[in-house]
Amino acid sequence: MAKIAGLDDIVSLCKRRGFIFQSSEIYGGLASCYDYGPLGVELKNNIKKAWWKAVVQMRDDMVGLDCSILMHPLIWKASGHTDKFADLVTECKKCNTRTRVDHLTEHAEQHTKHISIDEAAAKKQDLSDKVCPNCGKVGQFTEPMPFKLMFETQMGANVDDSMTLYLRPETAQGIFANFRNVLDTTRVKIPFGIAQIGKSFRNEVTTKAFIFRTREFEQAEIEFFCKPGTDEEWYEHWKDARFNWYTDLGLKKDNLRFRAHDPDELAHYAKACLDIEYRFPFGSGDWQELEGIANRTDYDLRQHQRGMRTLNNWFEKKGDLSKIDLKDEAQDYESGPLSYFDDQAKKRYIPYVIEPSAGIDRSALAFLVDAYDEEQVRGEKRNLLRFHPALAPVKVGVFPLVKKDGMPEIARNIYNHLKKYFTCFYDHAGAIGRRYRRQDEAGTPFCLTIDGQTNQDNTVTVRDRDSMEQVRVSTDKLLNHLREKLEV
Ligand code: GLY
Repeated sequence: MAKIAGLDDIVSLCKRRGFIFQSSEIYGGLASCYDYGPLGVELKNNIKKAWWKAVVQMRDDMVGLDCSILMHPLIWKASGHTDKFADLVTECKKCNTRTRVDHLTEHAEQHTKHISIDEAAAKKQDLSDKVCPNCGKVGQFTEPMPFKLMFETQMGANVDDSMTLYLRPETAQGIFANFRNVLDTTRVKIPFGIAQIGKSFRNEVTTKAFIFRTREFEQAEIEFFCKPGTDEEWYEHWKDARFNWYTDLGLKKDNLRFRAHDPDELAHYAKACLDIEYRFPFGSGDWQELEGIANRTDYDLRQHQRGMRTLNNWFEKKGDLSKIDLKDEAQDYESGPLSYFDDQAKKRYIPYVIEPSAGIDRSALAFLVDAYDEEQVRGEKRNLLRFHPALAPVKVGVFPLVKKDGMPEIARNIYNHLKKYFTCFYDHAGAIGRRYRRQDEAGTPFCLTIDGQTNQDNTVTVRDRDSMEQVRVSTDKLLNHLREKLEV
């Protein structure tokens, strides 16, 4: 039976093998920020490639996009983030630690559960029996207050044209803002989706568990545009497609589940939402969100249509953006620039949107946890990562058995040939058993050894990471043999 990894096992392996480091470590580290090392960046790139392949390359109804992180501030006004993207926090009167109110309750925690600032003011919370997670004091909390989650920054050098901008808190809005551009420049027809991978930023009150919740993180989001009335069908479609993506890449089904959001925890834009949760090894085996799938209805496109009509003028006058009231001034949305003319139905409408929104860093953590294993081999502990070949940072290790008899030269030639097709690692240092172990711990699916027999019959051993079985394969068949096994 596979060993169930604790978070400490993962953190230690990640540091030891160069998957993930604390950011700014040489200056004592920066909380909740992490750097991906040589193996980590390969893993992360492979996750992104696998996602892109599944949701763009393999589908006829999806296209991709890559938007800038900095966007016009009106985007965030129209989307509702400027006014609504906040967490309700309270401060412990004893130790001054701020905590999210929903983290004090025992309610399941949510990545996107945020409240409107007005709602926060109106909402009275009884915190008399709640415990401060930092100092343990009971019921000693200040009145809850909203804490805005968007990071602000300044753009422009001159006083006149300098603007306060936000680091995007989701990649989704860049997709909505380009909906018209994509319609006008491609031949997509509804139903279709736009996919994007990119960094987002949230000034989270509480960060958590290594790379699980960080203030800078990478999202892989799809906005799938469909005809109103077909949205529930597409919601079901994406729910299954996304669940299967994780299991196809090796996550154990028992460690995954769906959890539908209660109406009171829905994000401000959502009609329905569910999470694909993974059983992460925090605390006592916590189920936590890996990906959210939301029915955003026509909320965002409608809001941007409103925004385009009412806010731009207003912004030109350089009024105070925080005071603007986005009124429903434009009633004729269906004929506006963000509407879609359905030539089959012969009518215009604002499409509904289904949004599968995955966290790449969380996925990386889940794939690491799920792949982690330890076993005893001839009295010694063997650590390994049983990654799906598509995700493995290195696909093939190439070793000369000894540094003589022409073995290094043959091994180098094989390595130079194979690395044109997939990531390989050449290693001639140390005993062969130790070289295998090093690759096991990096999750490398196959290792080739060039030995005395290679000179005689042109074969090398191919060792399988999981079974440790070895077969001899002739060098001219090696590339095909490995491609078939690796499915690349
Ligand atoms: N776009 C949804 C989210 O960022 O949570």
